[in-house]
Amino acid sequence: MRSMTENELTDVVVERYRATPDARLQEILLSLIRHAHAFVRDVRLTETEWMKGVEFLTATGHMCDDKRQEMILLSDNLGISALVNMVSAGVPEGATETTVLGPFYVPNSPQRAWGESILLRDSDEIPLIVHGRVVDEDGTPLPGAGIEVWQTDSNGMYDIQDSSQPEDNLRGHYTANEEGRFLIRSIRPTSYPIPTDGPVGVLLRATNRHPFRPAHLHAIVTAPGHQPLTTHLFDAEDKYLDSDVVFAVKESLIRKFTKNEDPGAAERFGLSGPFWELDNDFVLSKARS
Ligand code: BEZ
Ligand code: FE
Repeated sequence: MRSMTENELTDVVVERYRATPDARLQEILLSLIRHAHAFVRDVRLTETEWMKGVEFLTATGHMCDDKRQEMILLSDNLGISALVNMVSAGVPEGATETTVLGPFYVPNSPQRAWGESILLRDSDEIPLIVHGRVVDEDGTPLPGAGIEVWQTDSNGMYDIQDSSQPEDNLRGHYTANEEGRFLIRSIRPTSYPIPTDGPVGVLLRATNRHPFRPAHLHAIVTAPGHQPLTTHLFDAEDKYLDSDVVFAVKESLIRKFTKNEDPGAAERFGLSGPFWELDNDFVLSKARS
């Protein structure tokens, strides 16, 4: 048997996987093999470098548990999560755009009443009121829609990263009323660094990249017959909007948080002083059949 060329090796490997019965799995695997082989040829990868890569991925896996997902963080940092979101989102014109879920989502957070605060600790910070409607693409309100939100506390950490925070601090589910309206009480989010004490931190330092995400509120909005929406609302004044470490900012999701000093408005929202206000409608698209 004569020895193979580099390109022939790729063809042989691809052919060995061609019998994969699931057509989509076959398409993905064959393309993955071709691209991975092309990458090895392109950079003329050495065996030492390949072992370093294997060790890096092994360390990334070892850092994962039910509270820490370093694999997702790696995908986020390489822009892969943002790219998968871009190619699969397919949101129609006029509907609110989606962005990445991120590794700090916790399912089954508590239900919150109309206007109840998701901040579960004492605070003298200026409150934030987020209000608006959940509507469909024609502007028709969607009563009973679910609005699930989560964000970091003012120290830049999510509750699951920081044992000093009460459980479920700054996360919860709200329900839209009969007019599709919702009222969320919180505090203004801050920019924060993603965790850098694992392999992703090693990667960031080796590549001279900062670890910050611009301030945002996460939301998952759902209504029967409509596409579930996973998104963020970004603070227009944040200095990291153009350099989000995970590449997940979309211009249409940037919002102005305004300071409302009108005592009458404060009273209407059950507050006694100035507050940050964000008026935002979520626009859901019809479920794809
Ligand atoms: C987040 O916004 O929670 C997040 C997203 C991607 C990576 C790290 C954090
Ligand atoms: Fe976040």
